Amino acid sequence: MDNLIEDLDIITDQGDAEACETIQVSKNSDTGKNRKLYIESYGCAMNFSDSEIVSSIMSENGFDTTSIAEEADVIFINTCSIRDKAEQTVRKRLQFFNALKKKQKRPDIMIGVLGCMAERLKSNLLDEEKIVDMVVGPDAYRDLPALVAQVDNGERAVNTFLSREETYADISPVRLNSNGVTAFISIMRGCDNMCSFCVVPFTRGRERSRDPHSIINEAKDLFEKGYREVTLLGQNVDSYKWSAEINNKAQLEKSEISEVVNFANLLEMVAQVDPMLRVRFSTSHPKDITDEVLYTIKKYDNICNYIHLPVQSGNSRVLEMMNRTYDREWYINRVDAIRRILGEDCGISSDMIAGFCSETESDHKDTLSLMEYVQYDFSYMYYYSERPNTLAEKKYEDDVPLETKKRRLSEIITKQQETSLNRNKRDLGLVHQVLIEGASKRSEDRLQGRNSANKVIIFEGKGHKKGEYVDVLVEECTPATLLGSIVEGGTHKC
Ligand code: SAM
Ligand code: SF4
Ligand code: F3S
Repeated sequence: MDNLIEDLDIITDQGDAEACETIQVSKNSDTGKNRKLYIESYGCAMNFSDSEIVSSIMSENGFDTTSIAEEADVIFINTCSIRDKAEQTVRKRLQFFNALKKKQKRPDIMIGVLGCMAERLKSNLLDEEKIVDMVVGPDAYRDLPALVAQVDNGERAVNTFLSREETYADISPVRLNSNGVTAFISIMRGCDNMCSFCVVPFTRGRERSRDPHSIINEAKDLFEKGYREVTLLGQNVDSYKWSAEINNKAQLEKSEISEVVNFANLLEMVAQVDPMLRVRFSTSHPKDITDEVLYTIKKYDNICNYIHLPVQSGNSRVLEMMNRTYDREWYINRVDAIRRILGEDCGISSDMIAGFCSETESDHKDTLSLMEYVQYDFSYMYYYSERPNTLAEKKYEDDVPLETKKRRLSEIITKQQETSLNRNKRDLGLVHQVLIEGASKRSEDRLQGRNSANKVIIFEGKGHKKGEYVDVLVEECTPATLLGSIVEGGTHKC
């Protein structure tokens, strides 16, 4: 177990909207453009979604994409800063690309660092990593063509300006590595919560919401192209707020404007695009998720019965130090509301941090007991990694020894495996509506998809293809997966 934790200081068993250790690589597009772009993306789904915006901007400016770094004229790494390990991975990749340039005898290959690490380190990155030609923060992607031209002219280029308005609403993303069935749609950017452990408010700037009309148009366009599921993305989707007059949350909250689109309204608008389009969203913040949102989920069959509701810790004192602005009781109240309004079958997942500053053995046990109470379907689990310039780094001592953090994380993982298995066993013998996403990872003969609660289901699927909805009887399960077979005309359990 220790080795496992060594390798993965996070666990991402479901590979979806919150999967932080996944890497995404650009795919091949050959439309006869002059130059080739290779993008490698790290971090969360919002970063992957940004890479699709970057590809779109670059393709308008003379670039096709490639999945092979060796073929590229320009290499971008879209980076993550959430934990130290994420940044170390990027630094290793930069060494690799340096070696590649030398091996290929191609000193002209341009290397750009994009995203959160670019924003955090700004022009210092140019001094620290000599190979880097370009540093571009998450709100500066419209400037990429000018920055590329600057590097073409022999200069190094930096733009890490953070905007209060940029949402890239008018840019139609080029879908990278898409299965053609499920897609992410960014509905907001930035984060105004100051969780004391987190770099995101510093790397992504102030929260702003995207024009709902552009979101609906993107969802319609995806549906017309054959997509059958969209995931609406934001660091705190429940605080989505948009008005035609003011696209700035702080000003909007002070204003008297009554015509405001909130997250429940937006969910409803997207659900109405087509009943065959599934709608998911991530991430919900326990302090903001409202009963109005829960009732909207209940009202529409195509809004999935699944909520990612990160708790981080089960102890109220630690939650206060984390500046999460809710306590254990509040969180339990929100879980009870989910169960009351959406029922026991609603999937609930979480993020957990083991070994935050000053966490005692008894605080840690509170996390385990909360997990027992909620019975999460799955969780993304990490041990605390102190990040420079965050509130926690300034105010608190990172005083839990690494060995203790790892041991507590392994106990959290064990508890999660237990509750995942409990939850999956409840599905045995029941028929689930599954949206087919493609062949299963292990065998081309089997198909895989997800049920409404976001659980992966694998089944024999002769005669069926991705993008179809099928009814699957669940016959076996592991903590991570359900296995079953298609039944014709079964009763849906969404
Ligand atoms: N906005 C989401 C929320 O508030 O739930 C979280 C987004 S963050 C990109 C994903 C997860 O990374 C967090 O929920 C937290 O569990 C984890 N995380 C953030 N900072 C961390 C740190 N310094 N050390 C370990 N894990 C961290
Ligand atoms: Fe980070 Fe907290 Fe914002 Fe999530 S809500 S991105 S954990 S500051
Ligand atoms: Fe995402 Fe990592 Fe930035 S999790 S918002 S890419 S710090």
